[in-house]
Amino acid sequence: MKISIVGTGYVGLCTGVGFASKGNDVICVDIDKEKVDKINSGIPPIYEQGLEEMLKKNLDEKRIRATADIKDAVMNSDVTFISVGTPSWEDGSIDLKYIEQASLDIGNVLKEKGGYHVVVVKSTVVPETTEKVALPALEKASGKKAGEGFGVCMNPEFLKEGMALEDFLNPDRVVIGQLDEKSGSRVHKLYEAFNAPIIMTTLRTAEMIKYAANAFLAAKIGMINEIGNLCKRLGIDTNEVANGIGHDKRIGDKFLRSGIGFGGSCFPKDVKALIAKSRESGYEPVILDHVIKMNNEQPLQIFELLKRKMPDISGKTIAILGLAFKAETDDIREAPALKIVDALVKAGAKVKAYDPKAMDNFRKEFPDITYCSNAAEAIEGSEVCLILTDWKEFDLSDKDFESMSNRLILEGRRILRKEKVKEFEGVCW
Ligand code: UDX
Repeated sequence: MKISIVGTGYVGLCTGVGFASKGNDVICVDIDKEKVDKINSGIPPIYEQGLEEMLKKNLDEKRIRATADIKDAVMNSDVTFISVGTPSWEDGSIDLKYIEQASLDIGNVLKEKGGYHVVVVKSTVVPETTEKVALPALEKASGKKAGEGFGVCMNPEFLKEGMALEDFLNPDRVVIGQLDEKSGSRVHKLYEAFNAPIIMTTLRTAEMIKYAANAFLAAKIGMINEIGNLCKRLGIDTNEVANGIGHDKRIGDKFLRSGIGFGGSCFPKDVKALIAKSRESGYEPVILDHVIKMNNEQPLQIFELLKRKMPDISGKTIAILGLAFKAETDDIREAPALKIVDALVKAGAKVKAYDPKAMDNFRKEFPDITYCSNAAEAIEGSEVCLILTDWKEFDLSDKDFESMSNRLILEGRRILRKEKVKEFEGVCW
């Protein structure tokens, strides 16, 4: 099938490259000419595992190209995905101006295009957005009626940063919200090449499924962290508890890693957007609100643990291993390390930090702490070492900590192992 995709962020580009690898002809659209040139020369503007190789392969086989010309893209495709950003407002609700603009731009082209075309919202948008923002903009600009002149679908993504291409190609399920059967059947065809159940539903249900999935996962992490904070005070290893409950199929063994809390661009933003939407619809959310409150406090559990072990940290040198919100990314958005480093600096500690990928981003927030070129340099001479991201290279041994001037090692991510390191403490174990 001929597909165009508006917006070449990690979702848009992985979707484009993924569909191309399944034999479709893909045109990626972005207003940023520099991004377009990069994609056409085989350089993804963002890092995702395996993306560069697969982009190059599909460029060579002429199944994908990028353009800044939306007319070219829509005219030469049968389906257009909208995959633009939805930045947050102060109150947590999301700004839909890019969704509206993309819909108007696509609609303008549909005005001139003959034949049937389907527009699919892929961006994460709160329930009712496709019906109340995208659809009217498409109708207004095209002068055509949705369901007659063109079709509309909503197809949420469930892609983890760093694993986005892999997740796209091997989905647990595909969710397609459809305006009508004709719209849905075209998008259904696209996904038949994937080995996954396809769930057909309404537009607003598809939007809600995405938020419900992230809200559940965020709450699951919040729950294991709450159990973990209690376990810590009772001398119980939360991981053993997680193992004990994870065998219960109703609970499941995934997303039961306790620690310093979740970060990233999705969980915090999406839960806050759902809270805002909930309030807008007249329902005051109880659990969702606490998931955010709990997670805002969770990073400080490691700071409190440190204060219990070392009441005065003023002037102490503290090594921080890991700044990114999770391993394999340079992303520090909502990373627990931001709150922890802030608390340490305010308490007068000297922070020496190292992260394999995220130091440039972190430096913009904290220009005055010391940045090291490897873990050994951060550890050397430090009195305390805190591990805040689960990078594999932080699976260290006793000898790696010998250069500390005093040995207090606290773990926020459970990367150190008892077999290799004799003395350390976890935040929930
Ligand atoms: C998430 C969702 O997984 C994905 O489906 C959605 O589309 C986007 O948001 P992402 O934010 O990239 O993906 O990362 P993920 O691997 O899910 O981790 C999110 C955060 O939760 C990280 O900070 C991670 O460290 C934390 N986490 C995850 C835990 O603290 N415990 C866990 O058991 C799992």
